[in-house]
Amino acid sequence: MPISLLTDERLVVLRTAGSAYAFCWNQLTTPLRHLHWGAPVTDDDVRSLIAVDQLTRRSTSTATVPRAFLEEYPFAGGLRREEVTVKLEMPDGVRALDLTVRDVAMTDPDRVLVTLVDSYYPVRVELRYRIDESADAIVRSASITNTGSEPLHVDQAFSASWPVPARPDPTLLTLTGMYGAESRVTRNPLAPGRFTMESRSGIPGHDALPFVAIDTAATEQAGEVWSVALAWSGSWKIITQLGDDGALHIVGGVNDFDLRHPLAPGAVLELPEMTGIHTTDGLTGMTSRWHRFQRTSVVPQPRRLRPVHYNSWEVAFFDVSFEAQLELAKSVAELGVELFAIDDGWFAGRTNDAAGLGDWSPDPVKFPAGMRPLADAVHEWGMQFGLWVEPEMVNEDSELFRAHPDWIYQWPNRPRTYGRNQLMLDFSRTEVQDWAIEMLDGLVRDNDLDYFKWDMNRPLSEPNSSSVAAGGSVWIEHVRGLYRVWDALRELHPELWIESCASGGGRADLGALQRTHWAWPSDNTDPLERLEIQRGFSMINLPMTMASWVTDSAHQLGRRDTPLRFRFHVSMCGLLAIGGRVPDWSDADRALATELIALYKDIRPLVQFGQLFRLDSPAPGLTSALSYVAENRDRAVIFVFAHAVMHTGQQQLIRLRGLDPNAGYRLTHTGTGAVSEFSGSLLQGHGVFVPLAGHYDSAVLLVDRL
Ligand code: DGJ
Repeated sequence: MPISLLTDERLVVLRTAGSAYAFCWNQLTTPLRHLHWGAPVTDDDVRSLIAVDQLTRRSTSTATVPRAFLEEYPFAGGLRREEVTVKLEMPDGVRALDLTVRDVAMTDPDRVLVTLVDSYYPVRVELRYRIDESADAIVRSASITNTGSEPLHVDQAFSASWPVPARPDPTLLTLTGMYGAESRVTRNPLAPGRFTMESRSGIPGHDALPFVAIDTAATEQAGEVWSVALAWSGSWKIITQLGDDGALHIVGGVNDFDLRHPLAPGAVLELPEMTGIHTTDGLTGMTSRWHRFQRTSVVPQPRRLRPVHYNSWEVAFFDVSFEAQLELAKSVAELGVELFAIDDGWFAGRTNDAAGLGDWSPDPVKFPAGMRPLADAVHEWGMQFGLWVEPEMVNEDSELFRAHPDWIYQWPNRPRTYGRNQLMLDFSRTEVQDWAIEMLDGLVRDNDLDYFKWDMNRPLSEPNSSSVAAGGSVWIEHVRGLYRVWDALRELHPELWIESCASGGGRADLGALQRTHWAWPSDNTDPLERLEIQRGFSMINLPMTMASWVTDSAHQLGRRDTPLRFRFHVSMCGLLAIGGRVPDWSDADRALATELIALYKDIRPLVQFGQLFRLDSPAPGLTSALSYVAENRDRAVIFVFAHAVMHTGQQQLIRLRGLDPNAGYRLTHTGTGAVSEFSGSLLQGHGVFVPLAGHYDSAVLLVDRL
């Protein structure tokens, strides 16, 4: 049984394929006591755990009581000094909770609902647990309800607390970065104290993906790892707290910075899902569980092949026109591109970033006959067609702003602040959401669109809205408004592709990936830097959500010149797209692009639906290798990259993973055409030599079961 709910013993055990999670409500010193997260356990194991109760540990008069790692949902009140999940202010100013268990019930074979109520004040907290068995995932969320007749304030409301068993020398793995260098793998020893990761910008932001993992010297192949990630596309916070005695817990959710969320009588605050995954087979095991989780519980239409697309941004910036876009579209249709998209610059008045946002109709000078002739031509050439939009934004120089100057977030008596010359529309208001849904629906219908790239290019500031009076904080209600618009759009147009972008990789959390088909991980398309960004991004996100353009060399950010084949191979590790000035490419480059796009289409089911392995490099830092293996292990593709090659590194012995050791495989080097045959056992136990001829050389090898 995946879930044991033993009501008499007040005990819950949640089981996945390879792990278990347990808590009880026996009222020893905490209403809801955490018992275990990790290896599989029996009900008897858990009974024994309770019998040798860790809560009997003695504490000093200065200690936090009860310890957070023993609580399932530690709340502010009493002697708790460690990081808690929830803090409310009652109508009379009391800022302490005293929650007790009202009920614990299974609401489905894979779900448990815990209802807590305050002993005095009219507050109900619901904790929800769901298991995703095959991904070894525990999905948690919570809600807070004001059941009284007077308003409350929510000062802090995290989705979950995740106690991690004490282990020697825990390591923290995060996916951190900045604009142009997002989601890079960072690993550091965790020191006693609190370690905070967060965003205060109204979007998940560029500093980090809302995710942390804890391990003790895990390698790719081995080691125990606990990891958590948040599904929230706004400001977030994850705090990891380690005590000197090794006690460790992680809390996370919507950022409490400036929250002051009012909770009107009867109102419910729904908190975002936070998922925890425990694995014992190293970082590769962690990645494959998150990928499985994304396939079963996150990405929309996970079995729908994502198209090879084209994006005009780096070629045109704001200088788009019907003729130039038509020329681009024709040139990329000939290469085998399947979706053509115009980025920024196509709409009324948009000659630079100071005007136009809000006026979402084709610019009459750039597209005198509207967008339809281009859409029709693109469709005729066998491609899908799409547009860039940034619906949450407005420029003062726009018809929309002139008509609705009150639709932005702003404080009274304070100047407006601008980011990229733009202001932010108040998506917490229903009328603004309705405008967006109608406008976007109209754009799709009028122009026969198959795709939107949804961008967001400034942080949220002046979080003040008339909707707040109606019962919510802008930090929360903006995201809810955005979700409503995304959900409505997808319901109106189920086949419409949506890409999530925020100045590169600023909005690529599980909440965004639940509602969009892929994300733009970074504006940095230099292939060498991209390898690092993609490595971190795909640690938890499916390669099918990771768009990657092949752009012209040398790249505008890094000024590094790299071969076209290398750039293609890097982009083929995710969602292949082109962003270069193809009409100017030589015949040889166009021929190579046509060949590599065809190759990508051949291996696309592996990259988009297969299992990713980060292969050991014989020369770490100088070379790297990845493979994608089909679920039935009949086929795989290997990518090998030379970041820089020393004389000693020209033959790379690459060991494969994930194959059937008892099967024979044919290995085809797609560049040289060389073919050889090996057993799966040899490919994994010994490895195979892949020649690399110098800086930025790369190789793609196909592995087919004989
Ligand atoms: C930021 C995005 O990351 C870019 O790809 C591009 O769409 C620009 N915005 C357009 O303004």
